[in-house]
Amino acid sequence: MNFDYTEEHLMIKKAAKDFARNELLPGVIERDTKSEFPAEQVKKMAELGFLGMMVDPKYDGTGMDAISYVLAMEEISKIDSSASVIMSVNNSLVCWGLEKFGTEEQKQKYLKPLARGEIIGAFALSEPEAGSDATSQRTTAIDKGDHYLLNGTKNWITNGKNASVYLVMAQSDVEKRHKGINALIVEKDMPGFQTGPKEDKMGMRGSDTCSLMFTDVKVPKENRIGDEGFGFKFAMETLNGGRIGIAAQALGIAQGALELAVNYAQERKAFGKPIIEHQGISFKLAEMEAAIEGARLLVYKAAWLKDEGKSFAHASAIAKLVASETAMHVTTEAVQVHGGYGYVKEYHVERLMRDAKLTQIYEGTSEIQKLVISRGLIKA
Ligand code: CAA
Repeated sequence: MNFDYTEEHLMIKKAAKDFARNELLPGVIERDTKSEFPAEQVKKMAELGFLGMMVDPKYDGTGMDAISYVLAMEEISKIDSSASVIMSVNNSLVCWGLEKFGTEEQKQKYLKPLARGEIIGAFALSEPEAGSDATSQRTTAIDKGDHYLLNGTKNWITNGKNASVYLVMAQSDVEKRHKGINALIVEKDMPGFQTGPKEDKMGMRGSDTCSLMFTDVKVPKENRIGDEGFGFKFAMETLNGGRIGIAAQALGIAQGALELAVNYAQERKAFGKPIIEHQGISFKLAEMEAAIEGARLLVYKAAWLKDEGKSFAHASAIAKLVASETAMHVTTEAVQVHGGYGYVKEYHVERLMRDAKLTQIYEGTSEIQKLVISRGLIKA
């Protein structure tokens, strides 16, 4: 067992940290307030290779391991998790799935510009009546010979407005239940495709989330990913990896909140001394640190399993569950440490607390992670 970072890991961590401090921090409160997509910052992330981190260089990616990806996600999420979710969806839900399961033509046409970050992608599984219960897809993709006719609505789609390419799950044969679902690559300008208004969210307000509407959209057969009926398996396999990214995001949010709380507790005085010297605060900080370190080991382990080519679905569900619950707890405590200042936007922690909430919901709620973990126990 080796807990050391490699030279490359340290380099990526530093590059992500510098980028977050220099490029994301300055406007993060304003973007959150205005619910503004970080378009300029996404361009810079692309230049730094953060949008196709795990993609093979032959498809224009940076060819890094999952640990490097997790380290970059963690550093960026300390400052701006709206930016990091854009990165996470593009890397793990779109590029990874296309590289692993796509055809050579799909990789040339779609993966390359996505990995370069020239365009960004979105992953469309959730529907108004199928969130956690993802097998109950109502969007239909009817086989019409050389194309599928796509009809239906997807909800809460990250990168919904700014994406150019969407991986859309849709039911082609209702009798076959989840084995009748296909995964299709849909382009934004295909006739009959529209996006709904941007959601006014509690947190992660810089990232754009919206619904997608498909009315008789003709999707060519060559845009299907994998064999007929592979779509649900595709979504599940992709989400297994996506959950590592969101776990890393939650970890970064928690770490960011802890660092703010420690700084504040050293500066703020009460009853004649810095509040960090009061046990009520120092023990709180100690518990936050211990919880974060526990979550970190789980997140890194899940990434390591993925890098080693071992099975990681169980580990990624555990990592996401623990890291997102930790993020919610730690950010709430960080607000408490800040007292009244914690409740105003200028001090950043209230945003981290709002952002943390979403990590318990998207890419599988905490309850879904418990379902995945407990089913794994039964099988063992
Ligand atoms: N990995 C691989 N395969 C899996 C899997 C996993 N984690 N979970 C289920 N499967 C497979 C099963 O093995 C089964 O395959 P077979 O029929 O070949 O045996 C098939 O999928 C169906 O599984 P179940 O019988 O277990 O189906 P279920 O309906 O009882 O439960 C579920 C499925 C696990 C609850 C699934 O619906 C699920 O994960 N729901 C949560 C969906 C989710 O995470 N949504 C997030 C939306 S994306 C998002 O948030 C992105 C964003 O924008 C940020």
